[in-house]
Amino acid sequence: MAAMKILFVTSEAAPLIKTGGLADVSGALPAALCKLGVDVRVLLPGYPVVMSKCSNFEVVATFTYLTGFPTSRLLSGKMDNGVPLLVLDCPGLYQRDGGPYQDTQGRDWSDNAKRFALLSKVAAILGGRATPLAWHPNLVHCNDWQSGLTPAYLHYKSGAAASVITIHNLAFQGNFPRSNVHTLGLPASSYSIQGLEFHGMMSFLKAGMFYADHITTVSPNYAREIQQDELGFGMQGLLNDRTAQLTGILNGIDEDEWDPASDPHLSKNYDSKNFKGKALNKQALQKRMGLEEDASIPLLGVVSRFTHQKGLDLLLEIAPRLMEIPVQLVMLGSGDVAMQNAAQNLAQRYPGKIAVMVGFNEALSHQIEAGADMFMMPSRFEPCGLNQMYSQRYGTPPLVHDTGGLADSVVDCNSTTLADGSASGFVFHGMTADNLHHTILRAVAVYKNNKEWLTLCKNCMAKDFSWETSAKAYLDVYNKVLGR
Ligand code: ADP
Ligand code: GLC
Repeated sequence: MAAMKILFVTSEAAPLIKTGGLADVSGALPAALCKLGVDVRVLLPGYPVVMSKCSNFEVVATFTYLTGFPTSRLLSGKMDNGVPLLVLDCPGLYQRDGGPYQDTQGRDWSDNAKRFALLSKVAAILGGRATPLAWHPNLVHCNDWQSGLTPAYLHYKSGAAASVITIHNLAFQGNFPRSNVHTLGLPASSYSIQGLEFHGMMSFLKAGMFYADHITTVSPNYAREIQQDELGFGMQGLLNDRTAQLTGILNGIDEDEWDPASDPHLSKNYDSKNFKGKALNKQALQKRMGLEEDASIPLLGVVSRFTHQKGLDLLLEIAPRLMEIPVQLVMLGSGDVAMQNAAQNLAQRYPGKIAVMVGFNEALSHQIEAGADMFMMPSRFEPCGLNQMYSQRYGTPPLVHDTGGLADSVVDCNSTTLADGSASGFVFHGMTADNLHHTILRAVAVYKNNKEWLTLCKNCMAKDFSWETSAKAYLDVYNKVLGR
């Protein structure tokens, strides 16, 4: 049988452009699918940083006739990992300073509906009979709201490719005024409960979830949670109706990019057999961040977007209590300005004990994974979460809230799980400051028992989070959708 052809549509892909975990997934999953023999091409908007890396790409199509959209071109080349990449070059929509979704002031681009409708529309053209390419995908794999309109556009084409949408975060839905239905070239009939209407708005994500042949999300636990009121974000009814076409697949991690044995960002590489090297990374991190260079004090690490989702407000709230244990805290992140200020105020109040770096810093994120003793993820909800898996690979047990993919990837440390070798971190139940505090105390007690702590760290490092297993699960979904 001919190789399966998949068009993978995404709004970010590491290492080209990254704001969060979607980029990590889009950088690694297509490569893992290629290894399974799938013929994958990634479609990505031509933001300035992307365009600067595509100077040798070939122009393979020009779109001048799409009503309502500026002229755009399709460039073809390869990602560094060898995966074929199609870049949608549309200077009118993507060539500007700022991020993929927001301007330099952190405000959403006012034309985001048009920007990502074009991405979705071009994906649908490539998945349709009238594609300008000789390569015809069997299936278009969309990700999040930014490519959510693709299944809707495909629905109105005959003989088009099948579609799957992956929900990386149901909280971001791409809801825009109704008038966009017409301007973005969709029929008025699509604006219905049985379509892309959502509480009087046109919803890109709902369109994807309604029209796609199959829906996946990034952990089995989150697949269950989003069918319930608490974490369904208003979409639980639709997701319940589609439960037979909803699959949770835990993300993998890029084991080359995140490998303490070869990570170029670390002061000293190490693995579970040469675990002592980890201590040098702690010392280097303390030094770099201006913390007291004390090997014995537990160092808690955070690398995160600063948003309500991530629950860091609870950690900031109990920081004064944590100082009494004592512990050190290092935080890297950006987002919510009030949260950034609160974190920086604490760093001023506790010099040498709390260090905060506001911003996005790839190297430091690796150094925190390696140099911290424990990694903190008290997320209110977390579709999958990648850092808790990176930290396990780095022998840095994560401390997580019992939610989403965190619950699927971390086994709470207690006498039973320590004895059977499954313990890999600390899980707290009930999103309160006291529960978080209590669990940090519990983790520090284990930390003080050298033998138990070493067992825990080594359990973490022995876990398999490779993409291969997850890529096979995606392949099963594609096969099911295509009736193969
Ligand atoms: P989310 O996508 O919800 O932000 P994930 O845990 O899935 O959460 O992925 C976040 C990714 O972004 C990880 O690779 C993490 O290391 C990275 N990251 C988040 N904030 C920063 C930052 N300030 N600097 C560097 N990397 C960051
Ligand atoms: C989203 C989620 C995160 C997930 C990532 C990649 O950003 O918030 O939990 O790991 O997507 O799937």
